[in-house]
This record gives sequence, structure tokens and C-alpha cells, in this order.
Amino acid sequence: MEAITYARAHRDRCLAELQDFLRIPSVSTQAKHQEDVEEAAGWLRDRLLEAGFPEARVMPTDGHPVVFAEWSDAGDAAPTLLIYGHYDVQPPDPLDLWKTPPFEPTLKGDDLYARGASDDKGQLYTHVKAVEAWRETRGAPPVNVKCIFEGEEESGSPSLEAFIREHKDLLSADAALVSDTGFIGKDVPSIVYGLRGLAYLEIEVTGPDHDLHSGTYGGAVLNPINALCRLVADLQDENGRILIPGFYDRVVELPDEERAELAAVPFDRETWLEETGVPTDWGEAEYSILERVSARPTLDLNGIWGGYTEPGAKTVLPSKAFAKLSMRLVPDQDPQRIAELAADHIRALAPPAVQVEVRPLHGGEPALVDRESPMIEAASRAYEEGFGLKPVLVRRGGSIPVVAKMQSILGIETILMGFGLPDDRLHSPNEKFHIPNFYRGIETSIHFMDFLGGEPVS
Ligand code: BES
Ligand code: ZN
Repeated sequence: MEAITYARAHRDRCLAELQDFLRIPSVSTQAKHQEDVEEAAGWLRDRLLEAGFPEARVMPTDGHPVVFAEWSDAGDAAPTLLIYGHYDVQPPDPLDLWKTPPFEPTLKGDDLYARGASDDKGQLYTHVKAVEAWRETRGAPPVNVKCIFEGEEESGSPSLEAFIREHKDLLSADAALVSDTGFIGKDVPSIVYGLRGLAYLEIEVTGPDHDLHSGTYGGAVLNPINALCRLVADLQDENGRILIPGFYDRVVELPDEERAELAAVPFDRETWLEETGVPTDWGEAEYSILERVSARPTLDLNGIWGGYTEPGAKTVLPSKAFAKLSMRLVPDQDPQRIAELAADHIRALAPPAVQVEVRPLHGGEPALVDRESPMIEAASRAYEEGFGLKPVLVRRGGSIPVVAKMQSILGIETILMGFGLPDDRLHSPNEKFHIPNFYRGIETSIHFMDFLGGEPVS
């Protein structure tokens, strides 16, 4: 196919463009990167126009802008694909653990190292380049294409729901395509049909109204750090079972059929241990590792601080202690309800000698997509062409809140076609994208559009 030949002939330029994209530090959660996030949006709009989209614009929201593009020349008989991705990235911290600077994309062997390389700039860019390949060889893609690239995914997509509601017609499509996930193993491409949701809270514990000498007051004043540690320890038993009353009420157990399918997915525990660096796995023994990390809800502290943390010793009984706490949710748990249950329980556990404040930060609904859809079949064939491997269907434990929103507001299913690898180190220092997966991802996207273009819409 000419589009594939074209993509292969232009690999080096595509990679150079991705490197330019990665140089822009579009960290959405940090106000100091406001201008960088805007720059990334403008950069992406310009590349969409260059790739052939007749229309591409940066659209304002209450937060960071959405980049929208549309190319609907394939005719009414052809399906419309809504491609979602995010051009924002996680903070690069801790900076001193990066072997090369996070915003100076660095090639090492077959990998490209930079914050956002895999999550999600490298992945979303595969589709932009697929469209360009169609434009250069056939004049236009064989399907109608719309793009919605957001700048707030890594900070919980606070403005996206309102944006989707407001622009329902503009975003109307037959299906959504999202590349923001990854392979379950290095040679195991994976189509994701289930994602977890999220409820995220911040806890602030206040003891005395200023720091105290721990010798003078220790013993009669409750230390807020001690209180916080006890409190968070009481939220979960030693096997990960969550002790918040009502937490499991709406959890849908995995059907036997699905458990059997997941059990057949090639998963190597030893490789997984190597990938994580942990001495052994942990958690609910009655569920497999794959089940635990994708179809079971969890509770994790993401940060905990207070008191003196610099070198040396300081004997202080601090005034405050803080924690950030997230819960990954599964169908049919509701993030808001879970956040309320958790906040009520934390307040109820608080001893009278301290004050405890609980603030919700953000959340996202879990999602399950229809595994039987012909679009999934087309995606599977596209992987076989692009990677020479048949993909497995799996659930994953991360969250992409827009998937549930596109179901409920736009009424469309999402095809989660990821190109990341398990050792891409998302959200961690030394994030990378495997360059062959970038190139093959472009080809897989070309094939996917080709298959969809030839299929009846259903
Ligand atoms: N790309 C991830 C989601 C992901 C990672 C899905 C791995 C499946 C496997 C996405 O960018 C992400 O990190 N999402 C956040 C969402 C949150 C901030 C609401 C997450 O999962 O923490
Ligand atoms: Zn992410």
C-alpha cells in the first residue's frame, strides 16, 4: 500500500517532529508551565494543518485548551473516527533520577527518552502521521477523521466534560480511537476493553497551631504525623482489602468467562517482577496479578509529608501532616460516591486530639467497552498488519476518564489501541517510547483507517 511505503520513507522526519513536540514541557498540573502547555497546543494545531486537515484549531476551555481538527471528505457512507489523545504530560519529578534531561529527547538504541514520549505525545502523533500518509498518497484518509487532543488529562480532565457537552455535534462520530495504553508484554500487543476509574483525595491533619519542641510537649500532644499514619493504615488490611464501609457495594465481580480469558493472556510473573523491581507480588491472593492490577479496586497513598525531612535530626512535634490518597475503581463504582464514603470514614476515624480535613482533588469513572464490536475486529487486523502479531484483549488498571464520558455523552464506544511497552516508565523518571512501536503504530493506524473505510458502519 502506498500510504505504508510513504510512512516508511518519512520515518526520520516523523521522529524529528516527535522530538520537537517532546521538547515543549507541557506539564498541565503546574501553573509555571501554563505557557508551555499553550505552546504545545499551537504546535500540534500547526502539525495537523500540515498533515492535511483542512480545519484545525485551538479551542479554549476553563482550563488548558483543546486542539480540535476535522477532515470529513470521505463521504457519508464512510465512518467517522474521533481520535482522542492528550498533549499534556506528568511533572518530570524527581528530576535527579533522570539519566538524560526530561525535555531534551534523547535517542538510545531503539528508544526515545523524554517525559511524555509514550504518555501520550508519541502515541497520539502516530495518528497525525497516518493521516499525513493518506493525504500524500490518496489525497485524503478513507474515513472521516476528527481529533480531540486535550491538555489536562494528567490533571484529571477538569474541563473536558463541559467541553464535550458543549460541542456534542462537533464531536459526533461512529467511534473513538484512543492510543494512551500499552502492550501487556513486549511482543503482546493489547487492545484494552476495560479501564479503572479514580477517586483522589488530599488529607490535612492539624495538631498544635505551631510546631512544638517534641521533648517539652511529646507525650501529651498527639503528633499529626503519627495520627495520619495510624489513620491511613486503618483504611486497608494487610492484603489490600479496603476497610471503608460501603466501598465494595457496587463492585461487579469478574464473570468466570472473563477470568478464563484473562488467565489465558500470556503474562510472565518473572518479567513482571523484573519490570517493577519488587521482591515479590502482593495483594488479594484469590485474584491473579493481572486481575489485581486491572479488575480490582485499590487504595494507595501517592504522597505523605510533614515535619522535618532535610538531612540530620530535628526534634520537632509538627503542627501539620498531609497525604495524597487515590483509589482506583472498577465498574460500577462511582468516583463521587466513593470519595464521599472515604472522606466520611476518614473523618470518623480521626481522634479528637487532632483536626482532619479531607479534600477531593479529582476523579474519573471506570469504563468497559463492547468487546464484540466490528471496530475491535478491525483494530485486531490492523495490529496483525502493523506488528505481525495478533493482539490480546485485556483490561488495564490506569484511568482515561474521557472513555466513560464519550460513552455517556456522545454515545460512542472507544477502541483503545495502545503502542506503549511495559517498561516505558510512564509517570516515572526516564520515560521512553520504543521507536519501532512509533513507526509500527503509524502503520497500524493507516491499516485501521483502511479497514474501517471498507466496512459498513454499525
Ligand atoms: N496513559 C495513562 C492511562 C493508562 C496507563 C491506561 C496505563 C492504561 C495503562 C493516562 O495518561 C493516565 O496516566 N491517566 C491518569 C488519569 C488520572 C489523572 C485521572 C491515571 O491513570 O493516573
Ligand atoms: Zn499518564
